[in-house]
Amino acid sequence: MVEPRSWQSETARLGNADPTEPTAWFERLWAAADHGDITMPWERDAPHPALASWMGAPDPGTASGAAVVVGCGLGADAEHLSRLGYTTTAFDISPTAVAAARDRRHGSAVTYAVGDLLDLPNEWIGAFDLVVEIYTVQAVHPSVRKELTAGVRALVAPGGSLLVVQAIAEREGEGGPPWPLHRQEIEAFGQGGLTAVSVEEFAAPDSPSRLGVWRAEFRRA
Ligand SMILES: C[S@@+](CC[C@H](N)C(=O)[O-])C[C@H]1O[C@@H](n2cnc3c(N)ncnc32)[C@H](O)[C@@H]1O
Repeated sequence: MVEPRSWQSETARLGNADPTEPTAWFERLWAAADHGDITMPWERDAPHPALASWMGAPDPGTASGAAVVVGCGLGADAEHLSRLGYTTTAFDISPTAVAAARDRRHGSAVTYAVGDLLDLPNEWIGAFDLVVEIYTVQAVHPSVRKELTAGVRALVAPGGSLLVVQAIAEREGEGGPPWPLHRQEIEAFGQGGLTAVSVEEFAAPDSPSRLGVWRAEFRRA
């Protein structure tokens, strides 16, 4: 039997293959994992530590309202929000990733859906009391960073909160994927009617940056 190749090296290859289609490679990557050609990307069953330790979260079972997880991958963060009590939607651009999440989370209360942050359905605009975005924006070529950031902001309901976790950029012009964020790029989530509650540096063991990750919270008035 042929051993699957590492998903990290496949990410480096596919992520730079066609700059005119900056999000097309995600489905190729997830499909390669589904076929057993590469190991499973972004594999984790626990919520990201920056989300799990976020003080803004309610106690388990006490949350009300709707939450959404952007670029949900295998769904660990969405399951966490559901356990807190949110009516949770989780979406990913890759149909194969969504199928894998549904399969892995059989019986879950989370609604897993295929969706593109660059082309959101109208019913999701301004519809979520909590929006969680972890590592999606940094995974896509910076040529569409402004559009992706605007897409994340658009999901937040009046009075709602946004939690963003992204690796901290060390220098200008670093090659990716991922492409970590500079301070002004993380602060850009606080535009268009949102304001920053906190922007902090968090030491996440899985960060691709030596500097750790930004953990930033925003709120819409
Ligand atoms: C780096 S992975 C992170 C997955 C998960 N958030 C985590 O932290 O484990 C980025 C995910 O975003 C998805 N993605 C990329 N572009 C997207 C877009 N435009 N809309 C929705 N999902 C997207 C990818 O398919 C991938 O599953």
